[in-house]
Amino acid sequence: MEQFYFEVPGPQRKADAIAFIREFREYGSEINGTGGLHRYLDDYAGWLEKLNADYIREPSEEKVPARTYFLVRQGDGRIIGMINIRLALNERLRRYGGHIGYSIRPTERGKGYNKINLYLGLKVCADHGIRQVLLDADLDNPASWRTMEALGGKRIREYFEDQHDHCMVVDYEIDVRRALEAHPEYEAYLAPEGSAPEAIG
Ligand SMILES: CC(C)(COP(=O)(O)OP(=O)(O)OC[C@H]1O[C@@H](n2cnc3c(N)ncnc32)[C@H](O)[C@@H]1OP(=O)(O)O)[C@@H](O)C(=O)NCCC(=O)NCCS
Repeated sequence: MEQFYFEVPGPQRKADAIAFIREFREYGSEINGTGGLHRYLDDYAGWLEKLNADYIREPSEEKVPARTYFLVRQGDGRIIGMINIRLALNERLRRYGGHIGYSIRPTERGKGYNKINLYLGLKVCADHGIRQVLLDADLDNPASWRTMEALGGKRIREYFEDQHDHCMVVDYEIDVRRALEAHPEYEAYLAPEGSAPEAIG
């Protein structure tokens, strides 16, 4: 069985990270949960500095602390996806955006990998004492909201969002402890702790 882990982005992943983002552009895909990587392709070191600043930031109405990870497949070391986890929410994120943004690279979609990505993300949330996770998705992005539902997400709101995406948006809430307890089957997809470089989870 393929196994996965979260990797904290480091300097050794520069070429892989750029190739990851190029693939989204090649396929004309939306990019989410990359901690802004797609805006730093010519300044990867600057992006790593930004991630450190993101992590230690004090929450404000402008910005909140966040962690960004690569989802890596252990067998071939490939970056499969990314996730950005907001460790606190301000009013703006509470209304739109929520705790988590994520993506899986276009050539690896439809294999259940984002469910593993979110499961690992929920474990990070639990480690940071986040009990209820808020997420949202465009209604016309079922792969995203089905991921949330697969991990016990409850749809709490459906509305027309007229400031950002100008489309129907669905809001979800996940009870972190309940979701992790209800889905032990995902543990089998996690690389054993200590078996991967810089692995978490
Ligand atoms: C959304 C995204 C992360 C899903 O990744 P993925 O690895 O393909 O998702 P999974 O294979 O884990 O599937 C998750 C669920 O969505 C369903 N799904 C996957 N692709 C689907 C599609 N094209 N249409 C409808 N449902 C789909 C799966 O069947 C699964 O639901 P199930 O457990 O009920 O069967 C990926 O499409 C992506 O990166 N999109 C661009 C970025 C983005 O939109 N991010 C989310 C912003 S809120």
